[in-house]
Amino acid sequence: MAEQEPEELLELSSDTRSTLEQHNLRPLWEVEDDMGHLLDDLEADIWKWEDIQAAIDGIEADVPIADLPPGFQRRVAVPINAEHAISNTIYVGVQTVSPGETAPSHRHAASALRFTIDGHEDMKTVVAGEEFPMKDNDLVTTPQWEWHDHVNDSDETAAWLDVLDLPLFLDTLNNTHVFENHELERQPVTKSQGYWASQYGRGRPAGEQKDGSIPGPFEGNQEPTPPYRFGWDEMEASLRQRADNDEPDPYDGYSLAYVNPATGEEPLFPTMSFRAQLLNDGPTDAHFHNATEVYFVIEGEGATHVDGEALEWGQWDIFVVPPDAPHHHEPDDEAILLGMTDRPILEAMNFYAEAGIDG
Ligand SMILES: [Fe+2]
Ligand SMILES: [Fe+2]
Repeated sequence: MAEQEPEELLELSSDTRSTLEQHNLRPLWEVEDDMGHLLDDLEADIWKWEDIQAAIDGIEADVPIADLPPGFQRRVAVPINAEHAISNTIYVGVQTVSPGETAPSHRHAASALRFTIDGHEDMKTVVAGEEFPMKDNDLVTTPQWEWHDHVNDSDETAAWLDVLDLPLFLDTLNNTHVFENHELERQPVTKSQGYWASQYGRGRPAGEQKDGSIPGPFEGNQEPTPPYRFGWDEMEASLRQRADNDEPDPYDGYSLAYVNPATGEEPLFPTMSFRAQLLNDGPTDAHFHNATEVYFVIEGEGATHVDGEALEWGQWDIFVVPPDAPHHHEPDDEAILLGMTDRPILEAMNFYAEAGIDG
């Protein structure tokens, strides 16, 4: 509208101008072009594992976790693409814990998970009283307001992906990092191993109604995500059964969602959704959507073509596909990706859209 108005009609008298300024008001046509430019536009980008490895090796050699300031006792290399993270909604970091070290117990409003890159049976994430082993490619949830600490009782350095919705809260919504340190470095282990998984299997606690209550000082209408470990052995077996028996999705290959164990449905968290994707059928078809996708390469090599740019990836690389960018995957042979997306946020606003691209 404003563009079609004759320029002279948009001139304000000096009286009007000073009234506006005095009361901190502006006409819409002067602000609308600025909207949407507070945060950086996201661009397609890739972080190669050898570069991440060099960075985390350096950090590990220089900085014991115990020397980090209280509240920040996590030794992490963070891929930066947006203001402070890989995207404006999802944060990904690569964390290491050396043999004998503990990343002390804390809890926060942000939803989080660990995806083990280089793990070990004696490397554990302790969540809500249970020790969850972190074997290669295991995914462990550390849901909102649940205590969690990471303990390395093995003789090898462990590395994993941290994935949180922090930039959504802190940058996009300009909210507060609601956070608390535990009084102990390690929270007490009060549950036997397998407890949390056992309560979300085919048998559920009898006679207990879901009360819909959300941990901590928060309110909402989403079913809370329980503490849970998705063991890779089972996940990979399900993925291969799918590949052996079913047709692939044209855009995402054979794709299995990590569901919220409480509901059996996506999304895993109110703000983030996760899939394991097996690609073995040549290039996928191109599509685009208004959700951001962050990918971690579980195994294999190939390229993802984003807006005409080829992001060439190998095992353990991390890359990002920005909102609305046309993209397709092209594995060299067989590859498995961990796909992470903020799609649930857009769906909660009835605003998610995607479309295939002919060609
Ligand atoms: Fe945390
Ligand atoms: Fe996609």
